[in-house]
This record gives sequence, structure tokens and C-alpha cells, in this order.
Amino acid sequence: MDALDVLKAKYLDEIAAAADEASLEEIRLAALGKKGEISLKMRELGQMTPEERQTTGAALNRLKDEIDAALRARKTALADAALDARLATEWLDVTLPGRPRPRGTIHPVSQVMEEVTAIFADMGFAVAEGPQVESDWYNFDALNIAPEHPARQEHDTFFMHRDAEDPRPPHVLRTHTSPVQIRAMQKQGAPIRVIAPGRVYRMDMDQTHAPMFHQVEGLAIGKDISMANLKWVLEEFCRAFFEVENVELRFRASHFPFTEPSAEVDIRCSWEGGQLKIGEGDSWMEILGSGMVHPKVLESAGVDPTEWQGFAFGMGIDRLAMLKYGIPDLRAFFESDLRWLRHYGFAALDMPTVFGGLSR
Ligand code: DAH
Repeated sequence: MDALDVLKAKYLDEIAAAADEASLEEIRLAALGKKGEISLKMRELGQMTPEERQTTGAALNRLKDEIDAALRARKTALADAALDARLATEWLDVTLPGRPRPRGTIHPVSQVMEEVTAIFADMGFAVAEGPQVESDWYNFDALNIAPEHPARQEHDTFFMHRDAEDPRPPHVLRTHTSPVQIRAMQKQGAPIRVIAPGRVYRMDMDQTHAPMFHQVEGLAIGKDISMANLKWVLEEFCRAFFEVENVELRFRASHFPFTEPSAEVDIRCSWEGGQLKIGEGDSWMEILGSGMVHPKVLESAGVDPTEWQGFAFGMGIDRLAMLKYGIPDLRAFFESDLRWLRHYGFAALDMPTVFGGLSR
């Protein structure tokens, strides 16, 4: 093997072993660069005899071309390999089944709150809020429930701590959403149309009672709002909420300190084989309390009762959920049992709307 063959073997080996473009470039410079081994040999041609120059020159040129070709080929091969590696990692099996929906579900109480809000929003009611730790005044006095009123005992109130020497009455966990009526009227005055969904608390626990549950309050105050408007609003609500055309409501005279007159409202229903049907049958089920807002309540909220009047109502959201979705035990609502939540929960991305459907 002559010297050029040795050179050729050396560079072709190096090129074959090069792992990336940078090493290829180093090899190119070492062989063919201005000061590369082969370029230097080219320069030596000048000192040769014409015959030597002819043979060696041609041989050097061939060597140069061969190394150049090997470099290009190796470069292409490396680029191909890099692309193959990338394609292998970005590979996608289009025959795989689609990703499952998120496993979380919307709790029936949240679902019903959204449904109720959507229905009343459609009738022009805004959503109002108030605190869950409420003052004695908002929860009772402002609603015409005086300290000695028996309704205070009926509410099974949770009291917050107060130091014994502090003369002020303790705060309470609100026992109903009615105090939000007062807060909303103080803030906005009249006329006003709001609902107030939220948590309430009472010391009570059995199959149909939990110490924490949910209510939605309604309030509409104007110049000439009457019981007739109350009746229409509630019927319209029940039709939309229970998704039945024929609902029948029964207004039963009742008593609440914050309304005068007061009515409890029952809905016609049937129980057949443990199945509840709304709008038919011979049974009646109580679903809410309501009435014309008592003048004293308007007064304590800073609204002049000689100028304004209107109705209010309050209903249990958990109860509405049990009725509409056939859920038998209220306690299960708050036990966070995943199997229960998956069974009774709602798809996370379907927002209830009056026009798009409430509970598909
Ligand atoms: N606050 C009452 C309760 O918790 C429900 C209620 C009854 C609210 C009559 C009202 C109403 O606004 O007018 O039992």
C-alpha cells in the first residue's frame, strides 16, 4: 500500500465512525481544509518532476474527490438517522381508542344550582350572595324574628364562640338563605330581583336532613308585585326545572315571620313502585315556603314599605336534586363516596341552559 492508500483508508475509517456533523466537519478540515493533510500534499506537487506531478496529482485529486464524496454520504446518512429517531419517538398509534372523559363529575347539588340559576336568570333574576357565618341580626332580627320568637328554637342554630363577658349576641352559621334578602336590598335598594343559592346549617341529621344543606332564596320587589306574580314565577320555574309541561302547584296558607301573607307550596305528584312522577297523580309534596315580604323586613333593609312591595320564597336545593334525579338518601350527598359521585354526577363540560337543555 502506498502512502496515499494509507491516507485514504485512514480518512474513510474516520468518516465511517463519525457520530455527528461536527466530527465530520473536523475530519473535512483535517483532510481537505487549507492546512489539511491532502491540501499540503497538493502543495508539494510544485517540487516534483513533471512526470511525478502528473501521476501523483491525478491520484491526489481522486483521493480528494473520494473523501469529499464519503463525507457527503455520511452526512446524509446521519441526517436520515436523526429523522428516523425523531419519527420513532413521535410515533402515534391512530388505532388506539380515544382518551376517556375526565373522571371527575359535577355534584348533583352543583348541577341543580346551575339549573336553578339558569331558569331564574331567564326570568330576570340576578344572583346575590351573603356570608355563611352571619350576624344574629341578619339571620333573625332583620327578618322579623325577635329574640323571644319561637322560630329561633325551631332553627336548631349553630352558634359561634363569644367570650362570656362579651354582651353582644354570638354570630351564627346562617340557618337559611333569607338574610341575603336583607343584604341585597341594603346594597341595591328597590326595585330588585335576585336569587341567592348557598349553604345553610342546622343541627339536624337523618335520612332527609343533614347539618349542612343548600337553599335558594328568591326576592322580587317592585311597585305592584303581587302573589299572582309569585304564583306565575314558581309555576314557570317548576315547569322548566322538572321538565314537564303540566305542573300543578297548591298554595297552602302558612306562617313565616318574614312574610305576610305566607304560603307553603306543594307540587302534584305520584309515587308508583317507588318512582316519583311530577305533574300527575293524587299526592302532593311540599317544595318551598313563600309569601309577600313583611313590611318590617323591608324597613329593616332600608326599603320604604309604603312605596314598595314584593314576594320572597325559599327552597331546599338538595331536596330538589333528590326529587328530580331520584336520589333516596340525603346523607350520601356529603359522604364523598366516589361510586356515588360517578353514578349521580354530571359531565363536567355540559353547562345547563334554558335553551340548550338543563339536564341532558
Ligand atoms: N327561610 C325559610 C326556611 O329556611 C324558607 C322561606 C320561607 C324563605 C318563606 C322565604 C319565604 O323567603 O318567604 O325555612
